[in-house]
Amino acid sequence: TFDRTPLIAGNWKMNMDHVQGITLLQKLAWTLSDARHDFSRVEVSVFPPFTDIRGVQTLVQGDKLKLSYGAQDLSDKDSGAYTGDISGAFLNKLGCSYVLVGHSERREIHGESDELLNAKVKAAFRHGLTPVLCAGEGLQIRQAGTHVEHTLAQVRAAVAGLDAAQAAQLVIAYEPIWAIGTGEVAGPADAQELCAAIRAELSKLFDADTAAKTRLLYGGSVKAANVAAIMAERDVDGVLVGGASLDAGEFANIARFEN
Ligand code: G3P
Repeated sequence: TFDRTPLIAGNWKMNMDHVQGITLLQKLAWTLSDARHDFSRVEVSVFPPFTDIRGVQTLVQGDKLKLSYGAQDLSDKDSGAYTGDISGAFLNKLGCSYVLVGHSERREIHGESDELLNAKVKAAFRHGLTPVLCAGEGLQIRQAGTHVEHTLAQVRAAVAGLDAAQAAQLVIAYEPIWAIGTGEVAGPADAQELCAAIRAELSKLFDADTAAKTRLLYGGSVKAANVAAIMAERDVDGVLVGGASLDAGEFANIARFEN
């Protein structure tokens, strides 16, 4: 057997300034400490804006919260004349465990290419961070029926040059763009179809043992009301939650999908 501890991740996107972020995290910590519910079998993680990370670190480390956290992006470079960019080294120093790479909003709004994202995945590993690689198709591709191939091509490009140990540590989130922030949730069967396809692809690129260790998430309009059915799917090891992660009670309910 292998350990794919369910990962319940909240992507705050460009919401919550450093004051609001601390308030949200305190509420979340309070809810997660509720003795009536067992959160020991899941890993809960938050992805705040860069400017909140110091505050999140202070709270998590100071109060020994059972929470991990990460950033929403990083530079593919380590340091130097890259105005406005953030190095993985800085994120590591702030206690980040994770970093999102290739969220569809970065791919679409900032034109991030597969080649750049491969460099970002490598930069994350170089600095001791676990990349959470996001991949998924838009509506036109879904309607054309080429969503599996499209998503696998993004995954293949992003993992090029990794070794098996890195591939096992990597987290991949399948996020169909048509289901992000739209209220339109992909069915559990859609999530399973893609997660199974990604795992099969990792098995081909690396080996079956490695592929069995990689955690695969689903993201797109996840709520407390639909999370249990998604998490029941065999190859889905967690969820990446946007909007619903901004409400501490709702996000905690998502994290307790199983009890
Ligand atoms: O990264 C999470 C995300 O893009 C999904 O957003 O608001 O549909 O849960 P949302």
